[in-house]
Amino acid sequence: MSDAHKDVERLSRAEAEAELPGLVAHLETANTAYHTDDAPEIADAEYDALKRRLAAIEARFPDLARADSPTQQVGAAPAEGFGKVPHAVRMLSLGNGFSDEDIADFVERMRSYLGLATEAPLLCTAEPKIDGLSLSLRYENGVLVQAATRGDGAVGENVTENARTIADIPQKLTGAPKVLEVRGEVYMSHEDFAALNARQAEKGDKTFANPRNAAAGSLRQLDARITAARPLRFFAYAWGVLSQPLAATQFTSIERLKALGFQVNPLTKLCADLTEMLAHYRAIEAQRATLGYDIDGVVYKANDLALQARLGFRSTTPRWALAHKFPAELAWTRLEKIEIQVGRTGALSPVARLTPVTVGGVVVSNATLHNEDYIAGRDSKGGDIRGGKDIREGDWVQVYRAGDVIPKVADVDLSRRDPGAAPYVFPHLCPECGSEAIREEGDAVRRCTGGLICPAQAVEKLKHFVSRAAFDIEGLGAKQVEAFYKDGWVQEPADIFTLENNFGPGCPRQLKNREGWGEKSAQNLFDAIAEKRAIPLAKLIFALGIRHVGESSAQLLATHYLGWDRFVDAMTAAGNFVGPEWEDLLSIDGVGETLGRSVVSAFHDGPEREAILRLAAHLNVQDATPPASESPVSGLTVVFTGTLERMTRAEAKARAEALGAKVAGSVSAKTDLLVAGPGAGSKAKKAADLGVKVIDEDAWLAMIGAT
Ligand code: IVH
Repeated sequence: MSDAHKDVERLSRAEAEAELPGLVAHLETANTAYHTDDAPEIADAEYDALKRRLAAIEARFPDLARADSPTQQVGAAPAEGFGKVPHAVRMLSLGNGFSDEDIADFVERMRSYLGLATEAPLLCTAEPKIDGLSLSLRYENGVLVQAATRGDGAVGENVTENARTIADIPQKLTGAPKVLEVRGEVYMSHEDFAALNARQAEKGDKTFANPRNAAAGSLRQLDARITAARPLRFFAYAWGVLSQPLAATQFTSIERLKALGFQVNPLTKLCADLTEMLAHYRAIEAQRATLGYDIDGVVYKANDLALQARLGFRSTTPRWALAHKFPAELAWTRLEKIEIQVGRTGALSPVARLTPVTVGGVVVSNATLHNEDYIAGRDSKGGDIRGGKDIREGDWVQVYRAGDVIPKVADVDLSRRDPGAAPYVFPHLCPECGSEAIREEGDAVRRCTGGLICPAQAVEKLKHFVSRAAFDIEGLGAKQVEAFYKDGWVQEPADIFTLENNFGPGCPRQLKNREGWGEKSAQNLFDAIAEKRAIPLAKLIFALGIRHVGESSAQLLATHYLGWDRFVDAMTAAGNFVGPEWEDLLSIDGVGETLGRSVVSAFHDGPEREAILRLAAHLNVQDATPPASESPVSGLTVVFTGTLERMTRAEAKARAEALGAKVAGSVSAKTDLLVAGPGAGSKAKKAADLGVKVIDEDAWLAMIGAT
């Protein structure tokens, strides 16, 4: 490495090319010595310096970077951007509360789940909710080895090199557990944000709308040198994988993180009860303007980690934590026009086109108007909202935004209404296909009945199908499917998989001859499509775009049915919403009647079912893995009866399901195990008749290893 001391900025291409192999080899040897042999050969500081230099050279000459470079430790897709990092412990989001009652409900829900008496203590921490982006830092033997963004919660992006440039993030820890994932928020202070924007403006570069966007844009830079030049900060507030617990409580764990060298928020407080929690919320709210960084609420967390573990998670949020959001920011502007958008499930959504206005630092020109009742000033039960004031085109309206959600219209100023303004008439025909748009009893939304003949629904379904969380086909995004749809190339998802047959080499019309495409890009797309013929069951279920089926419910369905054929057979058999298959579907924790009906309806005889089956014929659907198969109760059908003394019913059910058991409400020939507490009646008798094994609560707890 003859030129190792020359500034990377001054290296010629030839010099860089000559230096790289040695640098890579040096780091690889050091990595093996450290991680595999547990015998570090070089000092951490030297290692970091080598690695930073390699990253800098790669950033300057990206084409010289090797896909398997030590800078891309996990996953290696530098061409796509960042490598992917699966999170061993999912990075979840938080449920939101807005009013004091919401917080009281949260505390009450925890109490009732845990079966705690009203007078039993339930301590909670309260701390600011930082408005930045979350980051997970993995330390092995006290050394920072990886930093990953949240991504979709299951898989994040590898931003290790960028995280290394943040001064608040220690590179090395002393006295930490062997494996420690620290989680927290990357953010930018108001002062640094203003200075950054001033510098950007001076250079003629783009400025950022708010500190959060600036922080996200800075962390997610492919060139770590840019991140290094941006003043990012980090607060630690949680953890992921741990080889050893940090402490027994949330509060002391945070103290431990502080002792290890992390910045933790000084406004974190241990509260004895609801009154103290709300008081601390008010105290933080009062300081909001002078903190010097953006916060958007207060986060409460159950303090006792054993209770956190018992409370566990709903599909995407913990039961043991809640975000108490600050009231939203408001502004008045003119509503120029109401437009109707037709979504994937046919919903007619009214959108307000506004005279652009700044709300909390962000320019807003569109806002949602929810549905026709909302415009008319009625709620879903026919009661008044906004005192019954309707909203008309040309009105002055109050717009608000809370966090990242789509801005909403809150209020209307009648004193400024043009006397000639007419009430808004919500269309009863779909503006896209002319089909009747109807509102079913109990539904707040009017829906186009055109189904797949409605171009808007068909296109939105296709866009959803190719979206990142669904098929995620490289080179086939919303723009491309829309264009293919318009030209009749792709009308439904199945057509994507016949694209090559119909528009590939040798065909009269060929993709490579389309504007914006060429021989290579066309072939790349065909290859990318072929690659996605093998698709995990959960992704396929999600991709179908069935109403009410999001990513997490698709996952629940996949882990329940495990295989595509089984899933289709079960949905078909549940067709009349009665019988064992229907009961079985509803027995899945997290699947209610509404979701159940929606999925089953998609498989009723008709065009939707046909389209799904045409699609599936092109695919090789990969089975889902049963959850926690190592658990002794996984796959068993369990029934609880009688009084449980050490946990509530809700907890018993949630824990059993988390361990892969199925919890049923009644004893049948399919029952594997009856857990009977005192007072068990007819169920115990039936179990005895059927020869079903019966155990008591203690035996159950012993069985699941929770004594
Ligand atoms: S705890 C399992 N604490 O808010 C939940 N999150 O809306 C772990 N956030 O994704 C998160 N400040 O990015 C926690 N003091 C705080 C936080 C915080 C900001 C973010 C975090 C999370 C999001 C959820």
